[in-house]
Amino acid sequence: MWNKVALCSVCKHSPHPASLLLLRLPPVTHAFKRTCLGPSSDRQWAQRAQNGPRGALPGCLGSSKAKRRRCAQMYPLLDGRVLPVHRHVFEENVRNSEAVIKRYSELLQVVSKGGGEDAVLRHTQRNKKLFVRERLKLLLDEESFLELSPLAGLSMPYGDVPAAGCLTGIGKICGIWCVFVANDATVKGGTIYPIGVKKQLRAQEIALQNRLVAVYLVDSGGAFLPLQSELFPDKLHGGRIFYNEAIISAMKIPQVAVVCGSCVAGGAYVPTMAEEAVIVDKIGTLFLAGPPLVRAATGEYVSPEELGGATLHSSVSGCSDHFASSEKEAYECVRNIISTLNYEPVPEELVEHDHPLYSPDELLGLAPRDYSCTLPVKLVLSRLLDGSRFQEFKADYGTTLVTGFGHVEGHLVGVVANNGELSHDAALKGSHFVQLCSHRGIPILFFQNTAPHAAEPTSISQAEAQANRLKAQASMMAAVACAAVPKITIVIGGCFGSESYAMCGRSFSPNFLFLWPNARVALVDSRHLSMVPQAGDNDCTDESELKHLKQKLEAESSAFYSSARLWDDGVVLPQNTRKNMQNSNSTLSKEMRKRRHTWLKTRQE
Ligand code: COA
Repeated sequence: MWNKVALCSVCKHSPHPASLLLLRLPPVTHAFKRTCLGPSSDRQWAQRAQNGPRGALPGCLGSSKAKRRRCAQMYPLLDGRVLPVHRHVFEENVRNSEAVIKRYSELLQVVSKGGGEDAVLRHTQRNKKLFVRERLKLLLDEESFLELSPLAGLSMPYGDVPAAGCLTGIGKICGIWCVFVANDATVKGGTIYPIGVKKQLRAQEIALQNRLVAVYLVDSGGAFLPLQSELFPDKLHGGRIFYNEAIISAMKIPQVAVVCGSCVAGGAYVPTMAEEAVIVDKIGTLFLAGPPLVRAATGEYVSPEELGGATLHSSVSGCSDHFASSEKEAYECVRNIISTLNYEPVPEELVEHDHPLYSPDELLGLAPRDYSCTLPVKLVLSRLLDGSRFQEFKADYGTTLVTGFGHVEGHLVGVVANNGELSHDAALKGSHFVQLCSHRGIPILFFQNTAPHAAEPTSISQAEAQANRLKAQASMMAAVACAAVPKITIVIGGCFGSESYAMCGRSFSPNFLFLWPNARVALVDSRHLSMVPQAGDNDCTDESELKHLKQKLEAESSAFYSSARLWDDGVVLPQNTRKNMQNSNSTLSKEMRKRRHTWLKTRQE
C-alpha cells in the first residue's frame, strides 16, 4: 500500500505526479458504468487504440528511448472488452470487491490509531514524543511511500498488535530508496511481539535482497516478556535482527538508527550495531537494564537520563554518534547522514509510456469472488500493461497459463499469469518462459490465481497424465526458484496448494508478494470440501465435523488473515496494482542492473 507523506523538512522534492495516484486508501470509485462494453464503448475503445498513446511524454523520435517506445508500440493490442456473456460474473465480482475493500478500509482505520487514543495521548502529551506516523513525515521525502504489511499482528492468538507494533516500509530519503523500521511505542511501549520480530526480519530481508539502505527509529521496551519463549531462543527469533545487522553491514549496505524513545535490553543493540546513530535529548535512552532493575540490584536511585540518556551516550559511552536536541533535528540529521553515503539518488526515469486503454477501476470486476468467477486473465493484463500491448509467448500452447512481455510505465517485464489449471503443457511453457526471462535479465511479474484442486483421476491414463503434470510443475518450480531476476507476485485470486509454488508463492522468495483483497490463501478451498480427510480410506463425512472444518478453513483463507500473519507484503487494491508494480520494480532496478551486469560478464567469459 502506498502512503502519502505530507511534509519533509530537508531536501523537499516536488511530488512526482504519478506518485499522487496512489494516495492511501483512495475511495472505492463507483465507475463501473462501463462494466460491459456495448457498441458505443466499442467505438470508444477502437478510437483510443487508433489514436495511440495517452499520457505519453514528449520525446525526440530519434532517441533510443523513443525507439524503445516505438518497439513497445508494435506489440499486439490486447482486446480487453468484457463480453456481455461475462456481465453477470463481472458484476458479482464488483459487489464482492466493494465489500472486501470496505472491510480492508475498516482494518486500516484500526491500525492507523496505533495502540489507541489513550496510548497516543500518553505518548505525545506525557512522554513528549511524536507519533510514529508523524516521525515518518519528517524523515521521508515528500512523496508516497510503500508501507509493508500494515495489517500484520491483527487477531493474533495473543490478541491484537496493531501493525505488529512497528511500521516498516520503503520510501525515499533525499531521493534514495530506503527501508525503514519504526517502533510504535503506543503499542505496549513498543515491545516486540513474535509477529513484530517477523516483520522486522522481513524488512531486513528486503534491505539485503535489494541492497537498500536501512533506517531504524527505535522506541521499544525490548521483548514482550510474557511471550519470551516465542521471541528469544530460536534461529529466527529476536537475536536474528542483530545477526542481520551484522550481515547487512558486511555487505556494505548502510544502516542508520535514531534513538527516539526507550531502547531497553535487546532494543539497545539495534542502534549500537548501526553504522551511525542519532540520539534525541530528553526522550532517547539506551540501556540493557533500566532504573528499576538498577534499584533492585544495587539499591541506587538513578534517572533514565543519567543512566543512558543522550548526553551520556554522545559524550561518555560513544554509543551514539550524533546528539539531537529535538526529534525534528534528529530526522534532519538522518537526512544529512543519507546525503553523505555517496549514493546517487534514483534518477527520476521519466520513461515514455502509454497508459492502458481500459480503466483500472474495472479490475474490481475481474478480481474473482471465488475461482469459479474467474474471467480470462488477458482482461486483467489489458488494464495493467502500457498501451494494453502484449507480446505473447507460445500463445496457442498450454493456454491455461499466459506468458509474454509487456511494459509497466515504460519498463520491460515478463508476465506469467494463471488462466486456468496449471496443466502439463502450461507448466512446461511456464518453465521455458521463466528461464528465458532469467537469461535476458528481465524482471518477472506473476499474476497468481491458482486452482483450488486438481480433478481426481478416474482411470490409469488420467493418473499417468497427472504424474506427467507433476513432473512439468516440478520443472517450473525449479525454473522459478533458480531465476536470478527480480520477481514480483500479485495474488489476484486463489493461492491454493502446490501450484502456488510454481507461481512464485512466498516460499519461493519473490522480491515482493502482494494480494488483492479478494484473494484466498489455503492448501484447499473450504468451498470445495465435501468430507473431512482422514488416514486410510476412512474419510469422515460427519456433518458437524465437516461444517467446523469448513468454517475454520474459510476464516483462515482470507487475504486479511494472510496479511496479519505476514505471509505476504500487504494487500494492494486492484486499481492501484499498476503503480504498486512500477514502484516495487523501481526499488529493485539497482539490484537488477547489477545482476544483469554479472550475467553479461559471465556470457562474455
Ligand atoms: N513486556 C511486557 N509488557 C510491557 C513491557 C515488557 N517488557 N514493557 C512495557 N510493557 C507494557 C506495560 O505493562 C504497559 O501495559 P498497559 O498499557 O497494559 O498497562 C505498556 O507496555 C506501556 O508501558 P508504560 O510503562 O505504561 O509506558 P511508558 O511509556 O511509561 O514506558 C517503557 C515504556 C518501555 C520505557 C517502560 O514500560 C519500561 O521500561 N518497560 C520495561 C522494559 C524492560 O525492562 N524490558 C526488558 C525486556 S528483556
